[in-house]
Amino acid sequence: MKNTLVLKSSILGPHSQSTQLIDKVLEGKSGIIERNLAENPLPILDMDVATALRGGDDLTEQQQAILALSDQLIDELKAADQIVIGAPMYNFMVPTQLKNWFDMIARAGVTFSYTENGPVGLIDNKKVIVVTTRGGLHKDSPRNSIESYLTTMLGFIGLTDVEFVYAEALNMGEEQAEAAREQATQALSELV
Ligand SMILES: Cc1cc2nc3c(=O)[nH]c(=O)nc-3n(C[C@H](O)[C@H](O)[C@H](O)COP(=O)(O)O)c2cc1C
Repeated sequence: MKNTLVLKSSILGPHSQSTQLIDKVLEGKSGIIERNLAENPLPILDMDVATALRGGDDLTEQQQAILALSDQLIDELKAADQIVIGAPMYNFMVPTQLKNWFDMIARAGVTFSYTENGPVGLIDNKKVIVVTTRGGLHKDSPRNSIESYLTTMLGFIGLTDVEFVYAEALNMGEEQAEAAREQATQALSELV
């Protein structure tokens, strides 16, 4: 059985377009492990969290808990055969909640390492599908920093097989929105 790790990050709960799209395509499929990063937010990277993620013997109890949570997230990532990421655009970036997930799993010696030849990702390569929902139109423009951020960040930990499914123009009239939703549903169904 194929394990699919699903990361959702929309703040819009049941109204979320990325969540609805992912749910529609994955409905009834087995082997789904879901993390809703908006419903269950992760800590924001600060000095305490950065210290925790480096590990060692002198961590506070709270830092030990952060490290254990990071280990759990990394275990989920490693166990997955494919990953589906819901990545809405808020203020031209991914939601903070999704950024926090990457900040929690980026660990030197665990998910990446630096070598004489530069950084090497330590996660076994697997398919990643990013479902990115937007109110406007940004693909193929310099405003599409979500694609470059996610491609760089995923590649850094070893995940270079990344496909983007776009649902754009969702706030530009119902006709365009419906067409975008249909196209994205089709594209996602073909990829998972
Ligand atoms: C706080 C907020 C910020 C947004 N910023 C942008 C933006 O920068 N560009 C854009 O095209 N749409 C923007 N939108 C529209 C969302 O991308 C759109 O509602 C999309 O459906 C969000 O995905 P979701 O429904 O899965 O949360 C924003 C929406 C919200 C709520």
